[in-house]
Amino acid sequence: MTDTRPAACVVGYPARHSRSPMLHGYWIKRYGLDADYRAEEIPPGEIREFLTHLADHGYVGCNVTMPHKDVAFELSEPDERAIAVGAANTLWLENGRLRSTNTDIEGFLGALDAAAPGWDQRTSEAIVLGAGGAGRALVYGLIERGIGSIHLVNRTVEKSEAMRERFGERVIPARWDQLPELLSGARLLANATSLGMHDQPPLEIDITNMADDAVVSDIVYVPLTTPLLAAAKARGLATSNGLDMLLHQAVRGFELWFGKRPEVTRELYDLLAADIEPG
Ligand code: ATR
Repeated sequence: MTDTRPAACVVGYPARHSRSPMLHGYWIKRYGLDADYRAEEIPPGEIREFLTHLADHGYVGCNVTMPHKDVAFELSEPDERAIAVGAANTLWLENGRLRSTNTDIEGFLGALDAAAPGWDQRTSEAIVLGAGGAGRALVYGLIERGIGSIHLVNRTVEKSEAMRERFGERVIPARWDQLPELLSGARLLANATSLGMHDQPPLEIDITNMADDAVVSDIVYVPLTTPLLAAAKARGLATSNGLDMLLHQAVRGFELWFGKRPEVTRELYDLLAADIEPG
């Protein structure tokens, strides 16, 4: 018998490590939907066939992870966000057309909105650390929200300059040694580098002089509380971490595939947090 439930999946190679099935599975159960979300491990040689015939494989859409993000972008009709970031991570079928978006932007913005409602009304300048793929999504999100100046700190200056070329003069490339000065009175700091992640070098910055109503965001989620976020919490600042972003970025895909906009709750956070940091 064929399974007629609407189903989505995460497509990767490998795909087993993905936490998306746990996350979407939680929402499917919570809302009592007759739907399914699975992990599909598809080797590079088979990914084009898989995505081109997604419906034949039983899916209404999918998340795409390493190493398939470029192919997904190329084979689909990307929306404005996917075009801006140059990468697609969420695909869906719209009247038979394979569409795509990049949900990292709303993951970042949604996590900030939850941690510090109204942050964008009080923030005219932001500091972003890192000009890689993640940094691109964060910078574009800040531009979407109308933040006037984004100081983009990156070790390789050519990459932050390329981002200014791409997104315009609101992006202001900066060096790491300018950071203490930039942080003085700053209201938003977002780390989009791998620094501070388990097995990576630490991120050593002093946030003592940031504004008292500042928000600090970190894309890292292993550990859940990086030394940067621990310092921010110790100062009583609002924070969001990589798990908050992962949860918020998943909302749009679920809504596109299953027609229900799901809620990011404390219970869901705790479920995933216990998987990331058992005990
Ligand atoms: P992602 O797609 O996750 O953003 P990436 O494109 O490899 O990954 O980017 C990693 C980011 O972390 C970059 O901003 C990188 O700086 P460079 O562009 O100079 O490489 C930054 N990064 C990684 N290790 C670093 C280190 N040891 N010191 C400073 N920056 C580092």
